[in-house]
Amino acid sequence: MEQKKWILTVVLAFVVAMLPLTFRILESHQLQLLYMGELTNMILGKLGGWGSSRHDLSIDKAAKSKAIGPNLTACHPSYGRPDLLVYCCPPGFESPLPFVDFQFPNPQSHVRVRRPAHLLDQNDISKYNKALSIMKSLPYDDPRSFARQANLHCLFCTGAYEQQNSDTPLSIHRTWLFFPWHRIMIYFHERILGSLIGDDTFALPVWTWDIPEGMMIPNFYVNMNLSFFHPERDFSHFPPQMADLDYATERHISREQQIDTNLAFMYTQMVSGARKTELFMGCAYKANEGYCNAPGTVERAPHNTLHTWIGSNLNPGREDMGKFYSAAKDPIFYAHHSNIDRLWDVWREIQEYQLDIKDPDWLDSFFFFYDENLKLIRVKVRDVLDITKLGYSYEEVDRPWLNKRPSPSVPPKLARQILKSKENENQFQFSSNRVSSSDFRPHGRALDIGLTVKVNRSKDHLIKKEKEEEETIVVHGIEVKGDAYVKFDVYVNLIDQTTISPKFREFAGTFAHIPGGGEMMKRKINLKLGVSELLEDLEADQDESIWITLLPRTVSCGNVTIEAIQIEYIK
Ligand code: C2O
Repeated sequence: MEQKKWILTVVLAFVVAMLPLTFRILESHQLQLLYMGELTNMILGKLGGWGSSRHDLSIDKAAKSKAIGPNLTACHPSYGRPDLLVYCCPPGFESPLPFVDFQFPNPQSHVRVRRPAHLLDQNDISKYNKALSIMKSLPYDDPRSFARQANLHCLFCTGAYEQQNSDTPLSIHRTWLFFPWHRIMIYFHERILGSLIGDDTFALPVWTWDIPEGMMIPNFYVNMNLSFFHPERDFSHFPPQMADLDYATERHISREQQIDTNLAFMYTQMVSGARKTELFMGCAYKANEGYCNAPGTVERAPHNTLHTWIGSNLNPGREDMGKFYSAAKDPIFYAHHSNIDRLWDVWREIQEYQLDIKDPDWLDSFFFFYDENLKLIRVKVRDVLDITKLGYSYEEVDRPWLNKRPSPSVPPKLARQILKSKENENQFQFSSNRVSSSDFRPHGRALDIGLTVKVNRSKDHLIKKEKEEEETIVVHGIEVKGDAYVKFDVYVNLIDQTTISPKFREFAGTFAHIPGGGEMMKRKINLKLGVSELLEDLEADQDESIWITLLPRTVSCGNVTIEAIQIEYIK
């Protein structure tokens, strides 16, 4: 007993002695308050347990709901790559911190108008440059600092936090939390930047890579004299190189062809391939149900593809943008995600707001972020569905891809004749007309070379075609070993593999995969591609079967196996 008292006295004396030193390091007054808050809370927490607050009730409710949220006091090292342990936990995370629930900004305040990056003038650029330089100069203890902002992405995307009331790690990618989580992240990031230069109209630029004028890296990001420059990038992709929204390896095509391909690709990802909620938003990820691991169209590409396209070809995981633990260290991350965020709203508008998720488990999922006043805020998904209420908007951007519905590369009737004769001559690596033959379990089928299977369509759907149902190609049980970026494309009734691209209607969609994020993210993945409109355009909607081709586009596909290819119908 005596010994314990003695140790406690020494520890306390040490803490008290260190306080002035710590405060000298921490510059801002607000930060001191925060630090005091943390300390007080830690001491109170140790004394009384931290359940004795007004949040008791919400814990009870949370037990019934399957909403997801992080346990901020359960943070641990995580894997940025299988061979790289990273530590992105904030200082002092072990102690519970006081937080408040999100409140909308004052509706009277200025609207922050996010403008396409290529339209920014010198004044806009220097404002942002100043804000970002200040942010980069803040000490790591300050949650507003650029390093801490960047680590938020590492925390939520590599499974560093555990979920509340569970010991399962939380990871927001490849699920329906992808869009809302990133919206919240850049919302606070933008407000912090604005407050650092005392400008409440400050808005993030948008890298509008979906319109021809925006298809290059915006100029100020490659200006070495500005804080937007980042050395960990693929320099061969600097302007005037056009972005390849379906990037796997270099295509070496003309600018015009790249633009055409990008626009047609956007059409598939935003329109014909995204006619059901889950196809665009990703799979339903709920507490106690395990990680769902099936991203939506836009998350796979252009989102993942452009992360990879930007990241440095000299780094093992194409860091920084090419891996989630490091991506947000590159300032272009935030302009990339403004566009992702904008496209979420564009998709909702195209779908006339009929496909919005109503599931309370999604609406009540929540995260914690520091705001510009260093307050810790609990934000729910339901809080961020209306950007007008969040006080920002997007400058109107053209949607040239809306009328870029692709055409078949070969007249459909001719294509079918060729496919049938190829099949009779046994020219496919694998082909059969039995449905079960596209099932490769238990061993799986490697994707080191292309694969074509003939898959039967359901008879019911040949007779009475229900308009509301979306015919969907499902590649089941995709398993990725190794750590390299993986990309394969899926085509229907394809004749010539050498000339094909997403410019043509045969393109059903893509699997673009950034490995990483620990054990949970290694789970097998299902790829779902909506093809009802495609089948009409290929005049195949009355056919009993279709040929589906998986075309590997990276060498890493040799590390990939799949379990089955099937056709399913989504209501
Ligand atoms: Cu969380 Cu663009 O990645």
